Amino acid sequence: MTWTSSEHSYGRGAQLLHWLAALLILAMIPIGLVMVRLDPGDAQTGLYRFHVALGLAVATLTLVRIAWRLVDRRPAPLPNMPRWRLRLFEAVHILLYGGVAVLAISGIAMLLGSDLGITPASVDPTEIDRDLAPRSAHSAVSKIFSALLVAHVGGAISYQITKGDTLGRMGLRRPGSAHPA
Ligand code: HEM
Repeated sequence: MTWTSSEHSYGRGAQLLHWLAALLILAMIPIGLVMVRLDPGDAQTGLYRFHVALGLAVATLTLVRIAWRLVDRRPAPLPNMPRWRLRLFEAVHILLYGGVAVLAISGIAMLLGSDLGITPASVDPTEIDRDLAPRSAHSAVSKIFSALLVAHVGGAISYQITKGDTLGRMGLRRPGSAHPA
C-alpha cells in the first residue's frame, strides 16, 4: 500500500483524508442539530464553539483533499456499474464537496454578519443574528447535505453487498481478503 492511488485502489493519502473528513462531518451534524435546540448556557456555548472548530477543520481538510485529488491519480471507475449509476455517484460526490463549501461560507458569513469573530472562542450563540440569510441557508443546506450523505453511504453499502469491494478500495478491507494492485 502506497500513499498515492493505483488503478484499482485509493492510496493511503486519499483514504486517510476521506475517513478523517467522514468522522468530523458525522460528528458535526448531530452536534449542530442538538446545539440549536439547547437553552442558552455553558453547554450550548461549548457545543457552538466545538461545532465551529470542527467546521473550520472540515473546510481546511476539504481544500487539502481537493489539492490531493489534483496531484493523485484517480482509480478506474468501479466495475459492474451502469453508466447512470456512475454519473449519479459522481454527481453526489461533487454536491457533497459543494455542500461543504456552502456550509463553510454560510457559517463564516453568519458569524461575521453577527459581528462575531470566527475563532471558536469568540462565538457567543446569544449574539447570532436570527434574521441573517446565511443562517437560514446554513440550516437548509445542512439538511440537504445530510440527505446526500445518506445517499452516498447507502450507495456504497448497496454496491458492497451486491457488486464488489468498494470499501476495500477505501481501505476497509475484510481480514484475509486480497489487496488489489
Ligand atoms: C461540513 C460542514 C458543516 C456541517 C455538516 C454543519 C452542520 C450544521 C447543522 C446540522 C446545524 C444545525 C442547523 C439547524 O438545525 O438549524 C448547524 C448550525 C450551525 N453551524 Fe454548521 N455545519 C458545518 C460547518 C460550519 C462552519 C464552517 C461554521 C462556522 C465557521 C458553522 C457554524 C454554525 C453555526 C454558528 C450554527 C448555528 C446556527 C443557529 O444558531 O441557528 N458550521 N451546522
